[in-house]
Amino acid sequence: MKNNVILQIDNLTQVFKNGKKQKEVLKDISFVLEKGEILCIIGESGCGKSTLLRIIAGFLNPTSGQIIVNGEKLKKPTRNVMYLQQDYNQLFPWLDVSGNIKFTLNMMGYKGKELKKKVDEYIHLVELDDCKDMYPYQLSGGQKQRVAFARVLSLNPDLILMDEPFAALDYNTKASLQKSTKQIIKTMKNTVLFVTHHINEALFLADKMLVLGKNKYVFIDNPQDYTKEQLLKLY
Ligand SMILES: Nc1ncnc2c1ncn2[C@@H]1O[C@H](COP(=O)(O)OP(=O)(O)OP(=O)(O)O)[C@@H](O)[C@H]1O
Ligand SMILES: [Mg+2]
Repeated sequence: MKNNVILQIDNLTQVFKNGKKQKEVLKDISFVLEKGEILCIIGESGCGKSTLLRIIAGFLNPTSGQIIVNGEKLKKPTRNVMYLQQDYNQLFPWLDVSGNIKFTLNMMGYKGKELKKKVDEYIHLVELDDCKDMYPYQLSGGQKQRVAFARVLSLNPDLILMDEPFAALDYNTKASLQKSTKQIIKTMKNTVLFVTHHINEALFLADKMLVLGKNKYVFIDNPQDYTKEQLLKLY
């Protein structure tokens, strides 16, 4: 195996049982991702995109198959794999932007002057310099999402899982966040799994692409060589 493999998924299958009925959501999925790659996951509603992320986050044990993160078999949730949820309410409401980011940096062992410097660095990274004294209830959805992203980045995880993070935002905010998110990920060299319903968003962000369909999947190594129409045909 190559040294820079961060995520390895082997023969992952998920079957949900509902009384006597069984529903196979993910079937025999295998792929690898290297450090710094962005994998966009697309597919129709209900095809299993969030289920896949929940398994990789360690929230759900798969029916079969295994997940290896940076050489270690994943058994339960870990700080090494951060799940950035779709709702914007993952911040501490009693702490301002600085306080929210300081909290995670403190956990990472930063103290005193170095802590203050790091807090400012992360605030600047997500372009929230003007909002650092504001509380979550005073922020827009896009701003809250950026604070949450800064907190996740400050924990320096091997993997960041993003489940339709920009779905509820207006066109301009979305476009601006797509651009800055890609830039930040490429600078910080994080490995990211990004679920989206929007092919254009996927084409803009993706180094690799996973198209999930019913009982099949396609892993694409070179999404830039595909048109939107060609990708839609793979659903
Ligand atoms: N805990 C569960 N028990 C039973 N069925 C489940 C459970 N979690 C998810 N499912 C089913 O698995 C399928 C996939 O759900 P999932 O949330 O992964 O879809 P998705 O691709 O993320 O869809 P969307 O694009 O709408 O978010 C759905 O049919 C859902 O009902
Ligand atoms: Mg989903």
